[in-house]
Amino acid sequence: MPTPIIRIQNLTKKFGNLYAVDHLNLDIYDGEILGLLGPNGAGKTTTLLMLTTVIKPTEGTAYIGPYDITHQTDKSRTLIGMAFQEPKLLWVSTPWAILDWHAKICGLPTNERKKRVKWALEELELWNDRHKTVHVFSGGMRKRVEIAKILIQRPKIAIVDEPTAQIDIVGKHKIWNMLRDLRDEGSTILLATNELYEADVLSDRVAIIHKGKLLVCDEPKKLKDTIPGGDVIEVVLKENITQEHLAELKNTKRVVNILTIKPNHLKIYLNQAEEILPQITEFFMKAQIPIATIQMNEPSLDDVFAHYTGLTIEEAQTK
Ligand SMILES: Nc1ncnc2c1ncn2[C@@H]1O[C@H](COP(=O)(O)OP(=O)(O)OP(=O)(O)O)[C@@H](O)[C@H]1O
Ligand SMILES: [Mg+2]
Repeated sequence: MPTPIIRIQNLTKKFGNLYAVDHLNLDIYDGEILGLLGPNGAGKTTTLLMLTTVIKPTEGTAYIGPYDITHQTDKSRTLIGMAFQEPKLLWVSTPWAILDWHAKICGLPTNERKKRVKWALEELELWNDRHKTVHVFSGGMRKRVEIAKILIQRPKIAIVDEPTAQIDIVGKHKIWNMLRDLRDEGSTILLATNELYEADVLSDRVAIIHKGKLLVCDEPKKLKDTIPGGDVIEVVLKENITQEHLAELKNTKRVVNILTIKPNHLKIYLNQAEEILPQITEFFMKAQIPIATIQMNEPSLDDVFAHYTGLTIEEAQTK
């Protein structure tokens, strides 16, 4: 049985009448990367801010190691490093000054401090801009400075909120590898993201949250294996499908479920898709509904999200 290093118990935050985080229960294991995946407004940042004692829970609590975040705020903070979703700009305003100051308050000795700050700036391609003011930086560059703090600090528990938002794909891969290295050295990483691919490739386990509630938590592969059917055919039609045709399609052999993203955009969950694909295309031909695109996929974490909510993550972002 893995040892939990963060235990979240009934953690709740209300803003007025809104439950931003709604009685959340979750154990995060020592040494894992746990991805907290959910659409905009799901309650990810609010959860992380409570765990890092920036805001107080309305109800419930969490333990960081042995420390209760509601009563032992200072002690629980000693185990944590946080990279914020929206980094606050400080009075020290160059990457070098911000990171050197951060390394100092983390208690790194001078030599080690200089070495780690230089390493992080080089790795994150900030070295040439190290003396420029961050006020003129792009969102992606500011993000790099924020994530560098964690990579320099190397805390026992790293809490990172959308670490690669606005960062280009090469930068993303680099940061993912650096976070994996940190995990391999023994840190636990709790990462909030609304990017399916990031959650999938980086997390040992993924906790999916929606409207402040935990829907499910498991290894990405196990989550995908729970999708009824096991294969997905995604089809975009040139015209809307009628309810009658939809019902008929649902009754086709091996079709387990159909998600109607739009009346002309369907996700068909089914067994052995490669064998049945010709039948599906024939169905639309007979129904005289022309197909714009059709593709066969393995289930993704988006399908897991849709399985629980009836919405894709993209749809949930806009609702
Ligand atoms: N200080 C606040 N006052 C009032 N409402 C808030 C406050 N902070 C967050 N909320 C609301 O709580 C809900 C959860 O917000 P939160 O920032 O935790 O979501 P998130 O999952 O991090 O979303 P995103 O992916 O956009 O970062 C949202 O409806 C948000 O508007
Ligand atoms: Mg957020």
